[in-house]
This record gives sequence, structure tokens and C-alpha cells, in this order.
Amino acid sequence: MVENSVQLAPSILGADHSNLAEGVLRIKQAGLSWVHLDIMDGHFVPNLSFGAGVVKALRGKFPGMFFDTHLMLDNPHLYIDMFRKAGADLITVHIEPDYPLDGTLEEIRVLGAQVGVSLNPKTPVAELYGLLGRVDLVLVMSVQPGFGGQSFDASALDKISTLAKWRDELGLGYRIEVDGGITAANVRECLDRGADTIVAGTEFYKNGAALMRAMGLSD
Ligand code: DX5
Ligand code: ZN
Repeated sequence: MVENSVQLAPSILGADHSNLAEGVLRIKQAGLSWVHLDIMDGHFVPNLSFGAGVVKALRGKFPGMFFDTHLMLDNPHLYIDMFRKAGADLITVHIEPDYPLDGTLEEIRVLGAQVGVSLNPKTPVAELYGLLGRVDLVLVMSVQPGFGGQSFDASALDKISTLAKWRDELGLGYRIEVDGGITAANVRECLDRGADTIVAGTEFYKNGAALMRAMGLSD
């Protein structure tokens, strides 16, 4: 069985957008290294967030942090190079839109970033099965993407269990990340099911100490 270290990846979507550098600084001061960057195009999701320029500016201020970049875009293949150059360490693309997925995963790898794939709450997890040997991380959405502050969709839990089972059966080492509506009250169940990478926006910035305690990351 592959054991990945548990990571908390706070989403700066939940930070003060007039001062995103302070949002990243709070992550660093909590002793964490992963930063979750939610990139939205107003098409795949009904919202806009921020782009590669912001990622690049934050990379300049925080050279040592791990930038976990979640592309919620209809045409992610057009932006891989841009986000890699801006400083993304891991680039996650969704499987739902119609674009050249295989070539996109290959491009992320060739450019030297880690490769992630994501699925929405309504997308069956079996649709990812054929990709598992090619990815470093699977991101299970536990809300319909587009906005922070929504409630956790428990359909994510069975997907996490299935991905953990397949990881064992296939002898693979991909991370299982869960994103959306995570709180100090529900994070333990995600970890128990086999998730090792937890995204939290609202809860990290409002209740981060309790969240970290619930994850066993602090006393
Ligand atoms: C949703 C984003 C999430 C979001 C999580 O579209 O992908 O990363 O920021 O925010 P909370 O933790 O507030 O649900
Ligand atoms: Zn996200």
C-alpha cells in the first residue's frame, strides 16, 4: 500500500483578494507548503477568479511554496505552458470538457510539472480509471466547482474509497485530493476513506487551527 504524507492545501480563493500575498503568507506561517490556486474561466464554471499573472507574482514572492494549480477551464490545453511558466508545480485539469486530454496530460509532464486530473460531483469515477497510471494526483470535487463556501457533497466519499482501492490494486502512488466544503468536522472522514491531500478555502482562513488539529497536523 502506498502511503502519501497528508497535506493541507489551502485555497487562496478563500483569502482576501485585495491581498493574496498575505493569504499565501498565512499558509506559510502555518507551517504548510502547498497552496491551492483555483483558476476559473467563466465558461467551464460560472465565475472568474485570477490568471497566470497573479500566479507569477505570487511565485516571485514565495519561491519555496508548492503551487497546486486547479484549472477550471473549457480549454485548459491552451494555458498549460503559461501556467507552468508562471510557476505551477502541479497542474490539474478536468476530464469533463471536450479538448485533447491525453496530449494535455503529456504536455504537463513534459514541461516538468506534476500531473493532476479532476472530476465534478456528477461525473462517475470510473471515467478516470484509464488515466490513473499517468497521473500524480486525482482531485475529487466535493462541490460543483465555481465558488468557495459551498456545502460538502458526501458523494465524494465513495469516490475517495474507490480511488484508494484502485491505487492499492494497481500498485500506483497517486495522491487523492478532495476539494470543496471541507471543515474541521468532516475532514477526518475524508482522510479515513483514503484522501491524503485536503483543499480548504473558507475553513482554513476562518478556522484554520481547528482544521489543522482535526487533520493531526498540529496539537
Ligand atoms: C471550488 C474550488 C475550491 C474552493 C474551495 O470551485 O475549486 O478549491 O476554493 O473552497 P471552500 O473550501 O470554501 O469550499
Ligand atoms: Zn480547487
